[in-house]
Amino acid sequence: MTTVFESELSADEWDEQNFPRAEENEFDRVVERAISRRGFLGGVLAFGSGAAVMGTGVLNLADAAKASVSRFAFQPIPTYTDATVHVPEGYNWKVLASWGDPLVDGVEEFNHETGGLAKDADKVFGENTDGMESFVHQGKQLLAINHEYVNRKLNLPQSENGTPASAEDVLKLQNLQGVVVVEVEEGDAGWEIVKNSPFNRRITHNTPMNITGPAAGHPLLQTAADPSGTQSLGTFNNCGSGKTPWGTYLTCEENFNGYFGATEAAPVARLDGVEAGFKRYGVKDTGHGYDYHKFDERFDVARNPNEPHRAGWIVEIDPTDPNSTPVKRTALGRFKHENAEAVLAPDGRVVVYMGDDERGEFMYRFVSNGVYAPGQSTDGLLDDGTLYVARFNDDQTGEWLALTPETTGMDAASILIFSRIAGSAVGATTMDRPEWISANPNAVEAYCCLTNNKNRGVKPNAGGDDTSVNGPNPRETNNYGQIVRWRPHNEDHAAATFDWDLYVMAGNPAVHEGPKAGSDNVNAGNMFNSPDGMAFDESGLLWIQTDGNDKNEGDFAGMGNNQMLVGDPVTGEIARFLTGPKGSEVTGLTWSSDRRSMFVGIQHPGGNWPDGGKLPRSSVIVIKRDDNGVIG
Ligand code: FEO
Ligand code: CA
Ligand code: CA
Ligand code: CA
Repeated sequence: MTTVFESELSADEWDEQNFPRAEENEFDRVVERAISRRGFLGGVLAFGSGAAVMGTGVLNLADAAKASVSRFAFQPIPTYTDATVHVPEGYNWKVLASWGDPLVDGVEEFNHETGGLAKDADKVFGENTDGMESFVHQGKQLLAINHEYVNRKLNLPQSENGTPASAEDVLKLQNLQGVVVVEVEEGDAGWEIVKNSPFNRRITHNTPMNITGPAAGHPLLQTAADPSGTQSLGTFNNCGSGKTPWGTYLTCEENFNGYFGATEAAPVARLDGVEAGFKRYGVKDTGHGYDYHKFDERFDVARNPNEPHRAGWIVEIDPTDPNSTPVKRTALGRFKHENAEAVLAPDGRVVVYMGDDERGEFMYRFVSNGVYAPGQSTDGLLDDGTLYVARFNDDQTGEWLALTPETTGMDAASILIFSRIAGSAVGATTMDRPEWISANPNAVEAYCCLTNNKNRGVKPNAGGDDTSVNGPNPRETNNYGQIVRWRPHNEDHAAATFDWDLYVMAGNPAVHEGPKAGSDNVNAGNMFNSPDGMAFDESGLLWIQTDGNDKNEGDFAGMGNNQMLVGDPVTGEIARFLTGPKGSEVTGLTWSSDRRSMFVGIQHPGGNWPDGGKLPRSSVIVIKRDDNGVIG
């Protein structure tokens, strides 16, 4: 692993360093309710069965194989701690695209000395690949892929500690992030980017966007450059993704606060609510290291205190029209959006499930007022509806609490701009960092990864809400994570109420007994920590990706590198399918239209993966079966 990588911090790592983990309790709090409770299907939630507790620390692949006989078309793989990708026997992988790969002619191939030229940064495959979705248009295979954030030391190899020293450095970083739409094609050499395709497009921190919905034009969204409050520049920290029933891409703005800071200049007058919002969303005068505000006034909250309100949204992009203007849909609320899972209610209303990935924040749902009908205009569907926040009761029921002026005491626009504050006002359930949500295509149910939460039971969230252990978040200082699932009543995703259980509670049965060993469907052969990315395939299997601790020691001994597993939603069985290179997170997945190829993102790898050069490069890989059969 290069020293460059080791000292580079992801947004999460930065947070870990600046808000150090509390000392763990010596004894685990007993999770009575979770242990005694039975899942929907019986047994999934049970803890402490012989198989789970008696793990020896040696890989028990027999267990994993036993768990995989029914539906998994592969032999599960063990953990790895090395610097490359592993997939099961009978499958293969290759790199499709890496940070810096040119999308058009006239841009030089990636240069490991410079990390690419600033002037070309918006003409190459961007950094830190994350959520992605697949589209077919005019017979062409298109992918829309997020570029979440930057690894500054890698992207600015000449800089000191990755600190931008000029407006040009800042522009390079801004142009390496956002979204790419790219045409790909499978030829003799496998899948490759179609260079110069008219569909190839980079959307960056400077691309013009429209702002629509109830908060558009609100004074809190107005800036000197855009007094209308309806046209902003850029989409930020694009984490997970989503796809609408009408074939557009949803990109989700997560840790947007990191790009803002304040210069010494005396602050301009700020509107009511700005200070409270900065506090709840983590906008800080000192910034978070990007230093945009020192070279690009737009990011200086001393001068432009409303600019951060124009980030933290879900953005809709039409991947089939390279000239289309992306749209920020304010009706879906503003928070640290992870992904957006769009489904239809039986009456045709559009339901979008969304997580807010921060410790002790909430899970949300948008329900449109209008209905989707193929061939009819979908223009206002995501602009007009109700935003809800989830409350999970300890008796395995739950309800969606509408965020309205009556329930929150806030005006309609402020509810959307400060959704977290509105969620606190109605008593939403504080969660262990909601990451991706995915809906089962074969059953009316949805799943959310709750990745981990060192603050559970330790301290309140940034809004002061209590974060004692609760139903779906039953472990203090939760370092392994869990996946909650809910079944809406009346088989209707727009219903007001639901039942819930835990699909899996990650843990380490080789090291712990009891709650930290995980639920019954976790064993020494399939264990993992920090579930994050997640998607169902068309056959109804659940693919789970991890963004966890890969040091492979202590609480994490035997878990190896970050990985991708497959879960059977019916039996609860889980088996490991892929491991990523040391240092990386496995995040983002989609399939080719014929389902014979699976695209998977490898974010912030360590070492010199994938090409052996000086700089490791985030990449999308493509996985196939050797017999070219369907995957998922
Ligand atoms: Fe960008 Fe919460 O992951
Ligand atoms: Ca994530
Ligand atoms: Ca994560
Ligand atoms: Ca990440």
